[in-house]
Amino acid sequence: MSELEFQNVSYVNNGKEILHDLCIDFSPGSYVSIIGPSGSGKSTFLRLCCNLISSTKGTVLFHGKDVLQQNPIELRKKIGYCFQEPVLWGNTVDDNLSFPFQVRKQEIDEKKISCLLASFGLDEHFRKSEIKNLSGGEKQRVALIRTLLFEPEILLLDEVTSALDADNTGLVEKAILGLNQRGITVLWVTHNDAQSRKYADQLLTIENGRIKSLEAIK
Ligand SMILES: Nc1ncnc2c1ncn2[C@@H]1O[C@H](COP(=O)(O)OP(=O)(O)OP(=O)(O)O)[C@@H](O)[C@H]1O
Ligand SMILES: [Mg+2]
Repeated sequence: MSELEFQNVSYVNNGKEILHDLCIDFSPGSYVSIIGPSGSGKSTFLRLCCNLISSTKGTVLFHGKDVLQQNPIELRKKIGYCFQEPVLWGNTVDDNLSFPFQVRKQEIDEKKISCLLASFGLDEHFRKSEIKNLSGGEKQRVALIRTLLFEPEILLLDEVTSALDADNTGLVEKAILGLNQRGITVLWVTHNDAQSRKYADQLLTIENGRIKSLEAIK
């Protein structure tokens, strides 16, 4: 069975059809790069995947069940989404990294936080940094680490390395590849051509709200 499936999904906003009749499915452990021109509907597609927005027509299924019938909080624990514009809260990096433990009423796993910070090229002192002073690339990595503290089944990444230099982009790519090798499905929107083909096994092109192609690249 597919892990995630779009059955004839369209999305209309303010009378404008943004996505048209999408039919596609992803099996567990896929690594898919999503490309396409600006405004073609890539971010809208990711938002539909985790039911941040709901389809106008058609059905999105997670493990064969309509996402509309699933508890949204539970669904978003299983389908993690890193936004194109990272949304951070509170005052410090630590406020963001402790949040996933607080919502689950669990003790903070300091080791997990340290490991993730290190794998994304950030040191321990960084935890005390104020959000308002962070660079764009630092914000992107904090949002990503926050999503990965509890590993989702499906990881939706929306241009999450757009503000990073080549070295840090490489670190993020390797970390995500490691997660995929452990079975996490990755759907990654990118405008970076080299990145889209580096580790993914499928390349999905969205143009004008339609699936233009789905190419196997391994
Ligand atoms: N809430 C909204 N209300 C109205 N129009 C919207 C809304 N969200 C997206 N759109 C429109 O839908 C289209 C697709 O937007 P989307 O953000 O999905 O594109 P994208 O492929 O992610 O683009 P980019 O590469 O620039 O991030 C655009 O024309 C955008 O203006
Ligand atoms: Mg986008």
